[in-house]
Amino acid sequence: MTDFLARFNDYIVAFETELNKRFNDIVDIPERLLSAMKYSLLAGGKRIRPVLLLATNEALGGTFDGVIDYAIALECIHTYSLIHDDLPAMDNDDYRRGKLSNHKKFDEATAILAGDALLNFAYETLFNKKDFNSSDLLSCRLLSEFSGAKGMIAGQTADMYEVGLSGIEEVDYIVKNKTAKLITAPLLIASIKNDNKYYDELKVVGEKLGTIFQITDDVLDKTGTLKSIGKTPFKDVDKHNYVNVLGMDDAGVLAKKLYDDVIKILTDIPNSSFLLKLVENIYYRKK
Ligand code: IPE
Ligand code: IPE
Ligand code: MG
Ligand code: MG
Ligand code: MG
Repeated sequence: MTDFLARFNDYIVAFETELNKRFNDIVDIPERLLSAMKYSLLAGGKRIRPVLLLATNEALGGTFDGVIDYAIALECIHTYSLIHDDLPAMDNDDYRRGKLSNHKKFDEATAILAGDALLNFAYETLFNKKDFNSSDLLSCRLLSEFSGAKGMIAGQTADMYEVGLSGIEEVDYIVKNKTAKLITAPLLIASIKNDNKYYDELKVVGEKLGTIFQITDDVLDKTGTLKSIGKTPFKDVDKHNYVNVLGMDDAGVLAKKLYDDVIKILTDIPNSSFLLKLVENIYYRKK
């Protein structure tokens, strides 16, 4: 195993141990609701967002205990967004993370409620954080803005309905919000928790990395299989995305340019060798 994979695995194990603990400690939730929440959350996503947060925080000099609540909250919000994204009213996908999607395993009402519950659990976790201070207040504000109607949900809305934009501007708006906001949030929370170190640089990294991430997602939608990506391929053939608007080749050229930009910015940040490898792995990912 390479040093990178060993360290990536260490982050996943540390994160999932804490995630399991929090969910095993829950009492007084209807059994069906708790089962549905755990079903999607513990189904084994790639955990890119929590790892980005933990690794950036470490590069900036922070401790695991100082940010683990944010990593958990972020993965709960991301998972809720996927449960709702899969509903028949949205992308109508029967599979997620290699398993039946939440509404297929349970039913639509349960999937809606499990998503609602995960979103609230995220903030409940943060309001219960030990030694909550002014940097936590700013981090929570950022997370709620980036996840909410000005952020991820704005992007999901534009993905479903016209918002008065067209062509590449519309795609920029969708991707900047639906995907890049939840990729930028972990980087900026790590910065805020460490005296705002490299805030401006990490904001640009998040926006560009989020776009790279979504271009790859849209490429894999056309080239992957249910087995390889864990969700149904060809779901986004009619969507406004870079691959459909620019074509596969030009979308690839854009992703490569953004990748080079991100590498350049990160190279100037101290202790960034793991982050550089992580970005490389995100760029070349096949699932
Ligand atoms: C899927 O995110 C949604 C997008 C923004 C493209 P991921 O590809 O990170 O999904 P999981 O968490 O690994 O399942
Ligand atoms: C969804 O984008 C992004 C979210 C905010 C959930 P997609 O619809 O492309 O994500 P997948 O392909 O279903 O994972
Ligand atoms: Mg979608
Ligand atoms: Mg989808
Ligand atoms: Mg997709």
